[in-house]
Amino acid sequence: MAVEKTLIMIKPDGVSRRLVGEIISRFEKKGFKIKALKMFKFTREQAEEFYKVHKGKPFFESLIDFITSGPVVAMVIEGDSAISVARLMIGPTDGREAPPGTIRGDYALSKRENVIHASDSPESAEHEIRVVFREEEILE
Ligand code: CMP
Repeated sequence: MAVEKTLIMIKPDGVSRRLVGEIISRFEKKGFKIKALKMFKFTREQAEEFYKVHKGKPFFESLIDFITSGPVVAMVIEGDSAISVARLMIGPTDGREAPPGTIRGDYALSKRENVIHASDSPESAEHEIRVVFREEEILE
């Protein structure tokens, strides 16, 4: 198994609903190391760069409105198969379809306001980490 880094982001709904501690705790308890952590508010330009694979899709503008609507908490976590394991932990995009026990399954009831994001591939992890963090903000 390969040690990987992935980008986790608690979205504005997760922050305003005070789920930050609960969500970080799940990744810590699973065994991941936190390599970088920050709370910030996306500019529109930065959000469009972060989600550029979705540009042109019908939900793109609404996604950018939502993700820039309040602060988010982003972190880089590291561990064995971090990318696929984190995706399993967050569950499918639509909170109504996400199984109980997953983060979206336990806390989300919407497809857009779905509490959390995790990178879906090594390429998107690299891109998303680069959009959010400077190199010197990530621990060795
Ligand atoms: P995320 O995993 O962050 O990746 C893209 C995001 O776009 C997704 O979670 C949702 O927040 C949002 N999204 C995806 N599909 C839709 C949709 N059909 N309608 C509204 N928002 C969506």
